[in-house]
Amino acid sequence: MNHKIVVAICGASGVIYGIRILRFLLEKPFEIFLSVSAAGKQVLMHETAYQGEDMETFLRGQGFVFHEKARLRSYAPDDLFAPPASGSFQHRGMMIAPCSMKTLGAIASGIADDLIHRAADVCLKEKRPLLLLTRETPLNLIHIENMRKAALAGATIMPPCPGFYARPATLMDIVDAGAARALDQMGIETKIKRWGDEELV
Ligand SMILES: Cc1cc2nc3c(=O)[nH]c(=O)nc-3n(C[C@H](O)[C@H](O)[C@H](O)COP(=O)(O)O)c2cc1C
Repeated sequence: MNHKIVVAICGASGVIYGIRILRFLLEKPFEIFLSVSAAGKQVLMHETAYQGEDMETFLRGQGFVFHEKARLRSYAPDDLFAPPASGSFQHRGMMIAPCSMKTLGAIASGIADDLIHRAADVCLKEKRPLLLLTRETPLNLIHIENMRKAALAGATIMPPCPGFYARPATLMDIVDAGAARALDQMGIETKIKRWGDEELV
């Protein structure tokens, strides 16, 4: 099993999904190739306690547990020399969480002018998993068409729509359930309440 995974955080609301996905991944021996867009950084500063520090410092400051073999490698979004920019770099897939309508549009149009768009484009051409946690509401027809195009090209479109059957008690229960369901799509196990658990049914 390949333990390299690509993660991007874009400037849509709900950057906490990307952060909680990182938290789950860092508890395991994953090598994470992370890129945060410029807008992603701004939204992180608005919606979380992030203040512009490097992401590892931020995540450690949040009290996240790092597996001894976990590695977080951060790349600027204009770094087209980073490993995920090439199809020859082997990894298990890419998660963009959250994914803005702008980045969705770039992916659906094949515009690969930054690392996030290029790495997503590479996933599609190499037939690797690409998960887009798209966040916008309501959707216009351009958003819907772009989702259709990206899905036809092989992406998984996964807006963070909460389920309430697990009876979440806190906002973080809701976010973690969404993050865990996104990780399910990548074949990565997490411990959350699931339908079929004795306490739920
Ligand atoms: C606080 C804030 C929230 C935003 N939320 C969304 C959103 O939920 N969905 C979206 O598509 N764009 C949203 N935007 C707009 C994007 O940040 C903007 O389109 C940006 O160019 C996206 O760039 P990126 O995809 O490179 O991160 C938001 C912007 C701000 C400042």
